[in-house]
Amino acid sequence: MSLSRKKSLDSLMAQAADSEKGLKRTLGAWSLIALGIGAIIGAGLFVRTASAAGEHAGSAVTISFLVAAVGCAFAGLCYAEFASMIPIAGSAYTYAYTTMGELTAWIIGWALVLEYALGAATVSISWSEYLNQLLGGSIPFEWCHSPFERALDTAGVMHHGIINIPALFILLVLSLLLMKGTEESATVNSIIVFIKVAIVLVFIAVGWHYINPANHTPYVIPADAPPVQLRDGTFYSYEGFFRHGWGGILSGAGVVFFAFIGFDAVSTAAQEAKNPAKDMPRGILGSLLICTILYILFSWVLTGVAPYTDFMKAGKEASVSYAISTYMHGFGWLSTLVTIAILGGFSSVILVMLLGQSRVFYTMASDGLLPKVFCELHPKWRTPYKSNALLFVFVGLFAGFIPESVAGNLTSIGTLFAFILVCIGVIILRKADPSRPRPFKTPLVPIVPALGVIVCTAMIIGLDTKTQLTALVWMLIGLLIYFGYSKKHSKLQ
Ligand code: ALA
Repeated sequence: MSLSRKKSLDSLMAQAADSEKGLKRTLGAWSLIALGIGAIIGAGLFVRTASAAGEHAGSAVTISFLVAAVGCAFAGLCYAEFASMIPIAGSAYTYAYTTMGELTAWIIGWALVLEYALGAATVSISWSEYLNQLLGGSIPFEWCHSPFERALDTAGVMHHGIINIPALFILLVLSLLLMKGTEESATVNSIIVFIKVAIVLVFIAVGWHYINPANHTPYVIPADAPPVQLRDGTFYSYEGFFRHGWGGILSGAGVVFFAFIGFDAVSTAAQEAKNPAKDMPRGILGSLLICTILYILFSWVLTGVAPYTDFMKAGKEASVSYAISTYMHGFGWLSTLVTIAILGGFSSVILVMLLGQSRVFYTMASDGLLPKVFCELHPKWRTPYKSNALLFVFVGLFAGFIPESVAGNLTSIGTLFAFILVCIGVIILRKADPSRPRPFKTPLVPIVPALGVIVCTAMIIGLDTKTQLTALVWMLIGLLIYFGYSKKHSKLQ
């Protein structure tokens, strides 16, 4: 049946062997871990920790991080099996094409647009917020917020957003860089990673002394927590299953899950790993482990320094510099330094996301599932420049006109969905092709992949209904395109 036609694993392996002539295997385990951390630490930590704490979990956002990490670890183990077994610059899309057939591969590819394109949009919105913070709030509200946002200023005047220009600016700069073929070298990435990790560690070490135990009590938001007044004058209530207690923690996990997105980007470097069999699992799981420890410590300090309700009022987006400037007196310099480092850190995440998106579209277009324009290379720069330009317009529409929380939650849903399918893929390939050598084996199959499916599904359920419905509409549009275009144009046809 044509919907389940598959790309053969042997042809993929031949492709990998062929392209090996052009690619150098230079990355060891540490470089891969650095690559992972470079793509992982970003807006999820510096922005969403505060919104998950403020809206859902309170101080127990530390437990939300743990839940999200467990889900990622199950999925990460499955990614590690594929990445060590099919050492091609692949993605969940490629794995699905060989295991579950074309339609599922298309669905994953379409979900990955949510992960990469919307991920880039989300982080660019946060970039805009931190830039404004650095400039002392001098960018008018109208020009750095989407039309869906409004806020009262100190004089009681209501401002409505029009377009987020700084977010568009950073997207444009990075898209142009990508078109010219400027790639983050392992060295540049390592420097950014060093700065990012150093800032997180400094904040943890300094902030630890400013923890007010009262802010950690009660640790979980109680059912009778009083409502808080938001910037636009309306009230936010903690009633409802997903806004307090364990429901809130689960919902918070769905929100902070965003902070882990990017570890799968390590799998795209499989072709450049010195020893993919050993180093891929180390890169994927090592970066996950290091980030999990940093995230839990960071969120413990952040919610200890500032009460979680603060993040609903003032310091939601630029939460770290807000906490420092409001509660850590004498550390104003740290606030500025943190903001600059975070801006740099966000840029690398956006770059990797845009790169990942164009890579996925490149592969899908090469397979005939998308128009050729997405795999046309610039004659001199050898980059998919037309794809980069089109993606700038597409991603820019989201960055300029929708709020961070909407874009971020959609990103998470797309990624969670891809993770679920990768977990299922491992089980299927174990049955379909049991004798193929697997340098790294996911332990306890089918239990680990099944648990991955369960935890990731639970996080999808914990996200808000609007996000779920929007994602559903997105997938339906994807199906229309598949049946209207891709199925007929597929090279496997
Ligand atoms: N994990 C990345 C971030 O938090 C996407 O920005």
